[in-house]
Amino acid sequence: MGARTVRVVVTGATGQVAYALLPRIAAGEMFGPETEVDLRLADIPQMIDKAKGVTMELEDGAYPLLSRVVASADRAVTHKDIDWALLVGSKPRGPGMERYDLIRENGPIFVAEGRAIAQHAGSSVRVVAVGNPCNTNCLIARHAAGSGIPDERWTALTRLDQNRARALVAAKAGVRVRDVKRLVIWGNHSSTLFPDFTHAVVGGRPATDVVDRAWLETELVASVQQRGPAVIAARGASSAFSAAQAVVDHVRSLITPTPADDWASVAVVSDGSYGVPKGIVSSFPIRAAGDGWWEIAQGIAFDDHARSRIDASIAELVRERELVTDLLSA
Ligand code: LMR
Repeated sequence: MGARTVRVVVTGATGQVAYALLPRIAAGEMFGPETEVDLRLADIPQMIDKAKGVTMELEDGAYPLLSRVVASADRAVTHKDIDWALLVGSKPRGPGMERYDLIRENGPIFVAEGRAIAQHAGSSVRVVAVGNPCNTNCLIARHAAGSGIPDERWTALTRLDQNRARALVAAKAGVRVRDVKRLVIWGNHSSTLFPDFTHAVVGGRPATDVVDRAWLETELVASVQQRGPAVIAARGASSAFSAAQAVVDHVRSLITPTPADDWASVAVVSDGSYGVPKGIVSSFPIRAAGDGWWEIAQGIAFDDHARSRIDASIAELVRERELVTDLLSA
């Protein structure tokens, strides 16, 4: 067992998302039963005592695949030779806030992360920005890292939105979630995101043949866009274990082959596909080979409704980029 070891840093290691995520990584749910995990818990200095408590719990789990666990506020320690950086650490939004309200507070954290990744990470590192606003935080970290780490290694999390959309459609259609395919998110992880129901497939048939289009256009889109605040309002705190589930799914989608009849939602650095400005971190439908290679699914045609929704979300991402111009040249 454990021929291969993957080195993973989780930032914001004492937060709620990390608390749900870390045991799942240690148990092998992210990298599979053949891969050992060298787990690094990163947090700010005032949280390190608490992080040591989380470390103790991970040790006490006696996970067979957990080869090592360490907690530190020193990125030279936690980010050394990492294969994956799961950037969870950030201030979460509270009631009444939009995710982009956090840009100026969380942006500098992602400048520091980008620099640390460039300085300490392994040569094939891959990055997942989870802290919000995750698309623009990913953009910030990517710029701060410089040119040494190519664009295709930088991603942000829209899988939570995909999971939400698929669960909602499955419930409406009276099918299992696994029977909903090709329902992916375009654009920003925000209240402008677009769950593209126009290409979705439910039980092998177009979703629009199975579920009322008016419901898809209005209730589905609005529910997915507003699910984050709905959870915050109900729970008094932002999503935690559903976000952790989405991080597990996101990484697995990048390291396992995408089924031929499906796509995965991943926010990636745009190469200009579908008119999304080059360099913007937008959610697209992704197909992966399982060996590290992935591509944006090509050849998708949109009706006017879908195109205008996608354009609105891209316009928001461009506005967010303008708000952080200073951090991009830092
Ligand atoms: C979510 O979508 O639940 C998270 O990104 C938290 C938030 O601020 O909405």
